[in-house]
Amino acid sequence: MDSPRSASAPGTVNLGSVEKIPKGQGFCFIVGGQEIAVFRQRDGKLFAAQNRCPHKNGPLSDGVLGAGKIICPLHSKKFDLMTGQGPEPQHCLTTYPIQEVNGDLLLGWSAGAAGASCVPAA
Ligand code: FES
Repeated sequence: MDSPRSASAPGTVNLGSVEKIPKGQGFCFIVGGQEIAVFRQRDGKLFAAQNRCPHKNGPLSDGVLGAGKIICPLHSKKFDLMTGQGPEPQHCLTTYPIQEVNGDLLLGWSAGAAGASCVPAA
């Protein structure tokens, strides 16, 4: 886990160099007191989502990554990192915008604001 640098633009948090995350792996950052997993696919695509699995809190940043999906290391449930959709409607991830700018990871983040979730708010 790691803490971010100062924000570089309103609504974003600079998480530092993209090289911090080896290709094909995830990395857990603490942002606003929350665990956020950032994933860097082998093709360079980036994804960000809540780190804790909605099933039983497995650390998704330690899961198996590929084709825009993450497989939880605890019970192998698979989640789509674009939509957050899991195998069951109640097993859904909150996802966040993430991009690389000049070699740094910029996470779309506003203090107190939730990311996108595939579960409609009740
Ligand atoms: S904790 Fe993730 S699948 Fe069970």
